[in-house]
Amino acid sequence: MCGIVGIVSTKEVSSRIVNSLRKLEYRGYDSAGIATIVEGNINEVKREGRVDFLEKDILKLNLKGDIGIGHVRWATHGKPSKINAHPHSSDQVSVVHNGIIENSTILKKLLEKKGYIFKSQTDTEVIAHLVTDYLKKNSLKSTIIKVLKKLHGSFALGIIFKDRNDLIIGARRGSPLAVGYGPNENYLGSDSYALKSMTNKISYLDDGEFCIIKKDQIEFFEAHGVKINKKVLNLSKEDTYYEKGDYKYFMEKEIDEQPSTLNDCINEYIDKHNNQINLYNFPWKMNLFKSIVLIGCGTAYHSCLVAKYWIEQNTSLDVSIDIASEFRYRKVRFKNDCLYVFVSQSGETADTYAALELCKKNKMKTCAVVNVVESSIAREADLVLPIYCGQEIGVASTKAFLGQMLVLYILSIKISFDQKFINKHEYQSKIKNLLLLSNSAKKTLKLDHKILNIGKVFAHAKGCMFLGRGYSFPIALEGALKLKELAYVHAEGYPAGEMKHGPLALIEEGMPVVVIAPRDDHYKKTMSNMQEVIARGAKVLLITTKSKDEITSENIWEIIEVDQLNNELIPFLITIPLQKLAFYSALEKGYDIDKPRNLAKSVTVE
Ligand code: M6R
Repeated sequence: MCGIVGIVSTKEVSSRIVNSLRKLEYRGYDSAGIATIVEGNINEVKREGRVDFLEKDILKLNLKGDIGIGHVRWATHGKPSKINAHPHSSDQVSVVHNGIIENSTILKKLLEKKGYIFKSQTDTEVIAHLVTDYLKKNSLKSTIIKVLKKLHGSFALGIIFKDRNDLIIGARRGSPLAVGYGPNENYLGSDSYALKSMTNKISYLDDGEFCIIKKDQIEFFEAHGVKINKKVLNLSKEDTYYEKGDYKYFMEKEIDEQPSTLNDCINEYIDKHNNQINLYNFPWKMNLFKSIVLIGCGTAYHSCLVAKYWIEQNTSLDVSIDIASEFRYRKVRFKNDCLYVFVSQSGETADTYAALELCKKNKMKTCAVVNVVESSIAREADLVLPIYCGQEIGVASTKAFLGQMLVLYILSIKISFDQKFINKHEYQSKIKNLLLLSNSAKKTLKLDHKILNIGKVFAHAKGCMFLGRGYSFPIALEGALKLKELAYVHAEGYPAGEMKHGPLALIEEGMPVVVIAPRDDHYKKTMSNMQEVIARGAKVLLITTKSKDEITSENIWEIIEVDQLNNELIPFLITIPLQKLAFYSALEKGYDIDKPRNLAKSVTVE
């Protein structure tokens, strides 16, 4: 959360900082700001709201300067407002920060006693005053070492100094930070994506490190100030800035892209000629493992939940799943014969990253299922399995969810075959079925017009439920999450068989309920649970698979049917109408679909 950009150059920087901030808006969009140094003065421009507003102010003020830092914010301490927007400046320095300073209250009191006056409610402002205070008696480098030592919590920092228009300090603990190398100028950024339009030469800071960035030189230091060397990575040259095209919303585009992103991923992992899975880089023998733990947050966690069913069904591994923010603080019993899999679209989610670090510290075998292959999680894991779905901009994760499920499904079949749990014929038949998926996904997208009207009802519901059994239960959770985050409707996902143990009390006349009942082994049971909610007045949207057998149940409000593929592949298809349902519900209410309130795409705070 929050995005940082810094440029030190011989040319004016403000318009380029704004361009990079725009690319970082997926990290936070409640306010934005920029600071440059001109003739020994720090010039700040800050705005509540989007980068577009900030840009207008910058143009009006004609902000000059060859050195500057910028920030997009996702509020942690202090509400979104101009005053709380970054940068935060003292009379000497200006700071942009991503993360949380856990001891900010104590530090603030100490600094106030010394006479420093605070303007904002943020934790970040203490850094500006702390640096100012240490600078009185210390050199710049020893100030940074001492200040970083004083700070508890996580941070990525960019700092500029009133009297030093030649350098930017970058520092990292917990939150990602990259530097970029340019011609007669250098850069700082929360990630390489923010810098890609300016350079393809990047280095990443590791935890505890800081750097001094000048226009013709970048120096790196470990926490005590010992100079270190960093690898310079060459990223792919093209600036793959992802556009909306004819779509009004990224989310809509990303939902519609799913047949092709599924296809792209299948092409990467399936050798169609030999009808087998390509996982040549898998560094361990499969028989090494007795168990597997899948870890993620939010939608990524839901993909782990679906995978649990697949892995249990198809392998002899013990499977556990965990929410990263829980895993990292539990007394986990690490096992050498266990594979730890971390699932994350961004590859930057703080909790997932911390859980991975914990496993690495305990010398466990780790695998990352990510979309962003240059991310911190991808760089840290022993094995990376990309989901190949291209950039995902909409805060609500859609195509990445299908991509995560796909990679986990492919991994499960691979393990299954290597363990001789399934024979060659079964293995190849699963692969053949997989090749049908993209086309069925395309057909599912055509159900659009029907869901548009259904969305109008869900949009205005006081609350609603999503029910399913087996694979359909995690999909129910995912459907509910999408509706919550986009249409701000209270929605809960439940295992259909669990309703009678309490939640049934919530059902009242006219309450919309989604029942996910594909024609699998659970069909009849789920249909009975559906009757129980209909009997209590629920307005049921049934999502099922096509069949020649008629649906005999009565009083179903609406029915949506997707292709009946191999049961294991149904989670992919039944997800699509639920994504559309959330999309149309939010559209009906006129909400900001790509940037829902209070959320950010990449959650880099815990
Ligand atoms: O980047 P990640 O996959 O690690 O993100 C995890 C969650 O923050 C993310 O899936 C979140 O739940 C989405 N907004 C859901 O649509």
